[in-house]
Amino acid sequence: MRTTTVEDTIRTFVEYYEERGHRRITGSTLLPPPGDPVLFTTSGMHPLTPYLEGRQHPLGQRLVNVQRCLRTTDLEEVGDATHLTVFEMLGTWSLGDYEGPRSLEWGYDLLTEGLGVDPDLIHATVFGGDGQVGLDTASLEVWQRRGVPVERTVEDNWWSNGPTGPCGPDSEIFVWTGDTPPQSTPTRDDRWVEVWNHVMMRHRRLGDGTLVPLPQRNIDTGLGLERLLALLQGVDSVFECDVFTPWRERLPGLWHLDEPSLRLVSDHLRSAVVVTGDGVRPGNTGRAYVLRRLMRRVLTTLWRDDPTRQLTDLPQELVRHTLDHFRQSADPDEVRRVLLDEERRFGELLQRGRRILDRPRFRGPLDEEDFHYLHDTHGLPRDLVVSLRGDN
Ligand code: SER
Repeated sequence: MRTTTVEDTIRTFVEYYEERGHRRITGSTLLPPPGDPVLFTTSGMHPLTPYLEGRQHPLGQRLVNVQRCLRTTDLEEVGDATHLTVFEMLGTWSLGDYEGPRSLEWGYDLLTEGLGVDPDLIHATVFGGDGQVGLDTASLEVWQRRGVPVERTVEDNWWSNGPTGPCGPDSEIFVWTGDTPPQSTPTRDDRWVEVWNHVMMRHRRLGDGTLVPLPQRNIDTGLGLERLLALLQGVDSVFECDVFTPWRERLPGLWHLDEPSLRLVSDHLRSAVVVTGDGVRPGNTGRAYVLRRLMRRVLTTLWRDDPTRQLTDLPQELVRHTLDHFRQSADPDEVRRVLLDEERRFGELLQRGRRILDRPRFRGPLDEEDFHYLHDTHGLPRDLVVSLRGDN
């Protein structure tokens, strides 16, 4: 594979689709439009939902973009080779224009010819059909024609944004990351890493579970940028691709962390910067609580080995680099101030918590009433109480 930087990769992707009639839309904030049920944008299609449902997009029927996304469902997996909280999705859309086979053909050509992925390392999956929607033969035929091995699944090849709304069968492209020649299939061997999902977004699920056709047949694709970079740059995890180079250069000299902790701290701090840069402030509900949780996980990890570690030592260059990378106009000093305030608040909460839990009443096993009391009277959430007592 060819080595390429993050900027080159984004440029190659966007230009490839621009040459095929797509217009670039500006990748937007992590905050979904008002009325959207999710807390954060989790996929490039989010800001496009009204257009997938039939509204005319001002830039036409073929679109391409780079969208920052945040997924907290994967929080516990951050630290493995492929999961991040904030990541970027390279996306393409056909809004009632071309169909799935063309999308797959272009995607395959871009990966192999444009980006240099070895065709022998590619595996595809397609929707195998269920009681409501049949086997995706159009996608299956593309892969068979191209000589790409293909696996059929049901749940794994159906994409939806939530229990209701636009959805459809998808065909996913996997790349082999093992040291041995490729073997088995994506559902049986996780060395097949999913990089690109092509969704035939042509149904809408109603509240009662039934499917109705959308007014137009769309294609919605999403390619995980950091996963792709790890493959193109020949490294073993998303944390080693060039997006994380400044973090890898600066953090180990600052705090001596084992690899899993280094990954968690880099990921969560970077995400906290981006979320703050999009205007969120730490708090106890909704988005604010997601930010608070990210910060607390960072601080708990840092203080576990050395309680004297502090975020004032965090190089401002990392904050600035992150905001620049995501084209955010937030003031780096203000973002830093938010992180430091949260650190101070959490430090005070821990101190208070330790003092309170030291009282004789809380030394033995705690019941529900104790947890409620600690939460309601002293502002100590259950998970914090549990971890503080675990520390004792
Ligand atoms: N919406 C699909 C996904 O998030 C493709 O972009 O995987």
